[in-house]
Amino acid sequence: MKVLVYGSGGRDHCLADKYGDSQQVDKVYFAPGNPGVLYTPKGKRGLIERVPIRDFGKIVDFCLEKGVDIVDVGSENPLEEGLIDLLNEKGIRTVGPLKEYVRLESDRAFTDDLLVEIGVPKPEYQVFEDPDQARKYVRNIGYQVVVKANGLAAGKGAIVCDDVAQAEKAIHDIMEKKIFGDSGNKVVIEERKYGTEISFFAYLDGEHVMPLKMFAQDYKPAFDPDDTESIKQFGGNLNTGGTGCYCPHKLVSPWLVNRIIKEIVNPTVNAIYNKLGWQYKGVLYFGLNLDPYDRLDVFEINVRHGDPEWEVLARKLSTDLFEIATSVWEGKLDQITQIWNNQYYVDVIAMEGRSKASRGWNKGYPGRYGKGHRIKGLDQVERGIAIFFAGVDEDPEKGLVTQGGRVLHVVAGNPTLEGAREKAYRNIAKISFEDHYNNGANCMRYRKTIGL
Ligand code: GLY
Repeated sequence: MKVLVYGSGGRDHCLADKYGDSQQVDKVYFAPGNPGVLYTPKGKRGLIERVPIRDFGKIVDFCLEKGVDIVDVGSENPLEEGLIDLLNEKGIRTVGPLKEYVRLESDRAFTDDLLVEIGVPKPEYQVFEDPDQARKYVRNIGYQVVVKANGLAAGKGAIVCDDVAQAEKAIHDIMEKKIFGDSGNKVVIEERKYGTEISFFAYLDGEHVMPLKMFAQDYKPAFDPDDTESIKQFGGNLNTGGTGCYCPHKLVSPWLVNRIIKEIVNPTVNAIYNKLGWQYKGVLYFGLNLDPYDRLDVFEINVRHGDPEWEVLARKLSTDLFEIATSVWEGKLDQITQIWNNQYYVDVIAMEGRSKASRGWNKGYPGRYGKGHRIKGLDQVERGIAIFFAGVDEDPEKGLVTQGGRVLHVVAGNPTLEGAREKAYRNIAKISFEDHYNNGANCMRYRKTIGL
């Protein structure tokens, strides 16, 4: 069987890798992919092949020409741009929602209103199109808030505020300065919740739902809580798309899994199938909070796997992903048995840190970051460690170089969480990014508290 994974980030690389584990799959095309895959065992032996095509029409032609059996679209942007619709029109089987259904992620206000209507718990919120009205609201509300861009913002669109001044700044940045472009024409201002964040996932096949009975915890803040120097420099501990992840989440238990399914997943899926009448086929991501009083709340719903959550869940999942994908397409998810191995997994993300620019300095991700830094030490990484590449490029002289803020994921497994942490950190320490403007100093940065 031949699979094509469309995407270029760490989650997409991990999807390609997981399909490559299937006994039924002998070729995984990764489009437009990233050159990092050629530095991995599956890339070296040609099981995963990078196809540097971005154009949707050409992707359709490629799939037809090669006889691709199924296409998995891993991220929200190509889904919103209608890649699934186009592939289906040509009779190509897919995993991922149609363009219309991406609204669940790309229009927060729509989804929040739907959740309230069907009685799914979520923090209190108000929607604003006028920044002055939004400012008036946060001055009067009295409790802390999160200001969220209504549209897509690469997982970074929520600004968690300590006080009114920060909330007003967030409103200004999103609605007037437009740091997330038109996604900030509207904001959702939501009550800030305290507790433990949970990322929960389910596959849907248009008729059934298969909630994953395992969940993960993402570490969104850019810096470790005790890294006060960086937090001060960046004007707060900024939210990122994720800096690392571990699973099983410390709260995984049959009791909580059942509660999440009963209180959140089932009513939402029922509304999708029966109220909206959508034949949704793909992944649903529930961003949740469990507060100290055991109340569950939905922060957000996304239409794809989490990044970096998928990188750890995929390692723990022993069920064949190709079988899941085929069942999503054929409406047979009820026939899938979930198998999870007995390991803990920790994913630590190597990010672009402070580096020298041609003039001055780059602060590093999530601020302005440098590019083109040679990635060294990959050959030192121990066997059994998975490296998933994200923001990388290939340079004719330097080989693999950095290209994005989040550069690569180091994922390690062990029967204990401490063992997995130790292994991930031991191996990420072997990797470095060479800052060519600063005498080759290492400009790689990573958080030290993933899994703690
Ligand atoms: N890890 C957060 C996200 O994928 O949106």
